[in-house]
Amino acid sequence: MTKFLLITDLDNTLVGDRPALEQLNQTLMQVRQAQGLLLVYSTGRSLTSFNQLRSQEPMLVPDALVTSVGTEIYYGGSTTPDPDWSEKLNQGWQREDVLSITAHFNDLVLQPEAEQSPYKVSFFLEPSLATDLLPRLDVALHIRGLDVKLVYSGGKDLDILPLHGDKGQAMQYLRGQFGVTAEQTVACGDSGNDQALFSTGQERGIIVGNACPELLQWHQENGSDYIYLATANCAGGILEGLRHFSYVK
Ligand code: GLC
Ligand code: MG
Repeated sequence: MTKFLLITDLDNTLVGDRPALEQLNQTLMQVRQAQGLLLVYSTGRSLTSFNQLRSQEPMLVPDALVTSVGTEIYYGGSTTPDPDWSEKLNQGWQREDVLSITAHFNDLVLQPEAEQSPYKVSFFLEPSLATDLLPRLDVALHIRGLDVKLVYSGGKDLDILPLHGDKGQAMQYLRGQFGVTAEQTVACGDSGNDQALFSTGQERGIIVGNACPELLQWHQENGSDYIYLATANCAGGILEGLRHFSYVK
């Protein structure tokens, strides 16, 4: 059993089934001691909102934390994001121009200020409107020369991100920082903003049993041997997947 990097989404992936989380924590603590483990949380939440969750749930201390859908990376409890990653995202990112385009789309409802961040603009969007609106918004942004990424999650959240600022690219950047190969990396998630974790490279993936329709549909069309669809929900699905890939016994 060798050292590996576990990168996991939080809401409805790591967190959501308390007894299963406690069982997974036990296993991960043993793995940390016996074979070595790099633990990374990757969430859509802001740092403040992550801290709220952490005060409510029994979560192990991670080696790094990725917040705001891949756009901020923190190490060892620091509250200053990795400046090199921020610098990468800054290239070509024009937040104000994005907002001036989205203002023309009345069905986009801006999320609370606390969830907006320098490299992420977030809205609520009704699922019944998304299929029609998203391609139109994409065109409007690209006509203005704004190279951005639209990420729709959980049938309600729309994030507009810099082109290179999703969870998958943050994971690859971190692999480089930690010097870990794709084979030694396993990513876990349940919703649209986790898709990039499964499609950016050859990292192993675990989709938990309670995954959202948008991620299940993506998996149906793009699944590979590297991606395991678990039966169990949340942390139970992570443990099932880690066993499937023989990362743990
Ligand atoms: C989290 C964030 C929200 C984002 C969503 C999907 O809920 O708080 O801003 O839109 O994840 O990525
Ligand atoms: Mg989630």
